[in-house]
Amino acid sequence: MRDLARLPLNENHFRDRYGQWAVIAGASEGTGACFARQLAGMGLNLVLVSRRQTALHSLGEELAEKHGVEFRSFVQDLTETGAGLKIVEATADLDVGLYISNAGADGFSAFFEDSTEAAHRLVRMNITTLVDAANGFGKRLLARGKGGIIVMASGAGLGGQPNLAMYSATKAFEINFAESLWAEYHERGIDVIGVAAPIMRTPTLMRMVPEGFDTSDTFDPADVTHNALAGLLAGEPIQIIPDGPGAEKQPQVEKDRKARLIGFVEFNKSLTGV
Ligand SMILES: NC(=O)c1ccc[n+]([C@@H]2O[C@H](COP(=O)([O-])OP(=O)(O)OC[C@H]3O[C@@H](n4cnc5c(N)ncnc54)[C@H](OP(=O)(O)O)[C@@H]3O)[C@@H](O)[C@H]2O)c1
Repeated sequence: MRDLARLPLNENHFRDRYGQWAVIAGASEGTGACFARQLAGMGLNLVLVSRRQTALHSLGEELAEKHGVEFRSFVQDLTETGAGLKIVEATADLDVGLYISNAGADGFSAFFEDSTEAAHRLVRMNITTLVDAANGFGKRLLARGKGGIIVMASGAGLGGQPNLAMYSATKAFEINFAESLWAEYHERGIDVIGVAAPIMRTPTLMRMVPEGFDTSDTFDPADVTHNALAGLLAGEPIQIIPDGPGAEKQPQVEKDRKARLIGFVEFNKSLTGV
């Protein structure tokens, strides 16, 4: 696997800002489980959401025993209509300081040769569910005056890619949506980060690629999730982990996107008067 330097992360500061509870949508394996382990290690209680109750429960039990945190598992298919609202409602009694929109991968397919059924499912998971959950949790974060939202997007969202038309398009939505929320709320104590993640050796990826696929160029998902948590706390709107064709230009793309956003924060004050 490829090396990724881990960014500094002050665990006490993190817990104060995003505790007591974090909600992870897509928590049972892959990057979702990495987030769960890292958050439990910092003492945050967890709401673990995915389709497989047994997998959620065994992860929750393991983390409760190891770190003394509380957990709640919530079985929900994120591609279903109303999924985001149901997650917000199911956690109404908890002091949620962090929402992580994690699940969102998709397989390879050629768009005209496929039906649009899978495309609409991906739109519901990566757009509709994210919109409803971010809106519901965002209202609660505003009321408590602090908190965060992490949107796991992808480098595929930085531009189009063959055989990933819907994936690339929904990941572009995620990145722009996260940046916009950052620009609207970072001055009011709410942190939002969009992560343009690189190729990572997760169970989902390993199910997608052909047998014998060379994983030496993949990243360790735990390194990527650690840096997403550190980037959130550092107040970054976007994190691009350089990967794929044009990787050498991506650090500059990240800087340019942040500078543009900051410019728009000031510009919009003159437009809206607030
Ligand atoms: N892996 C990569 O190379 C890569 C690269 C760039 C970006 N990313 C992004 O990183 C994020 C995580 O990727 P990943 O590789 O770990 O795979 P993933 O399939 O997006 O996430 C796996 C987790 O999400 C849950 N999940 C999947 N579909 C779900 C659904 N319809 N409803 C509820 N839960 C669902 C799975 O649990 P259950 O099976 O229990 O439901 C599992 O816990 C995604 O947003 C992906 O787009 C991944």
